[in-house]
Amino acid sequence: LTTAAMALAMTATAQTATAACDDGEIVIKFSHVTNTDRHPKGIAASLLQQRVNDEMNGKACMEVFPNSTLYNDDQVLEAMLQGDVQLAAPSLSKFEQFTKQFRIFDLPFMFKNIDAVDEFQTSETGQAMKESMTRRGLLGLQFWHNGMKQMSANKPLIEPTDANGLKFRVQNSDVLKAQMAALGGSPQPMAFSEVYGALQTGVVDGQENTWSNIYGQKFFEVQDGTTETNHGIIDYLVVTNVDWWESLDADVREQLGTILREVTEARNAESTKVNEEAKQAIIDAGGTVRTLTPEQRAMWVDAMKPVWEQFKDDVGQDNIDAAQAINA
Ligand code: LMR
Repeated sequence: LTTAAMALAMTATAQTATAACDDGEIVIKFSHVTNTDRHPKGIAASLLQQRVNDEMNGKACMEVFPNSTLYNDDQVLEAMLQGDVQLAAPSLSKFEQFTKQFRIFDLPFMFKNIDAVDEFQTSETGQAMKESMTRRGLLGLQFWHNGMKQMSANKPLIEPTDANGLKFRVQNSDVLKAQMAALGGSPQPMAFSEVYGALQTGVVDGQENTWSNIYGQKFFEVQDGTTETNHGIIDYLVVTNVDWWESLDADVREQLGTILREVTEARNAESTKVNEEAKQAIIDAGGTVRTLTPEQRAMWVDAMKPVWEQFKDDVGQDNIDAAQAINA
């Protein structure tokens, strides 16, 4: 695009962006990277927008920018600190620059399902994590769930040695890089919005993600198949700028906080179902889904779990023990 065309496009975006906003209302921009349908985060963000615009009319208005149309995850937290966006819900793997505490959520096979993640987050330790970045200007408001990660590649992945020598896109997280290295793969950090193209052109051979992301971004169309490994999780932190949050009138902050909590409870309860539906939609669209025998899955556990040792000091043995107690 020429500069002029870009300026025009940006004006058009700005106009749609403020369509719900009247003079005098507090503008709440929420930027995220996924699609809006059949996606736990997309659905939750849309519901939040609708409720804020209905119930806070005259006081505040929310505009959601999905699909990385405003910022990708590498940019959004900086933009938030600059005051250009007020809410975002990056995956917990994206807070690498701000805290090492969230590394526990990236460790492979740490949580057996999303209920276990929920229970850990509800604990005192989990709740304290929301405030672990306030010194850096970010405040976590709620955890939002996506689901369990699966592995896909341009060849069948049945045993961990099948991943040997493959290039895997990962989110920019040291744990995820180490995990792919443990498989003999080559980790390639990349923004979510670029993954489809990279898979299609062979810049990378494979990736890991939830069913809803594999479906929503159509990764299955440019992969040989997806193996149901359930080896890790993708979960989110709805995050805001501390100064902005504290600048709100108490009644506005309270009402927004209540709506967000109610949306969180309602949508987190549905996240597993949304992912199951996305998995079925992949199969219905002709995508290949492979399951592992218990023996095969045990081989993936053996290959990846040694990564815990490298990050034990960052996440704390007591937290690992607490997470494991929940799985039991
Ligand atoms: C990814 O980058 O793969 C995910 O974090 C995207 C998302 O927000 O689910």
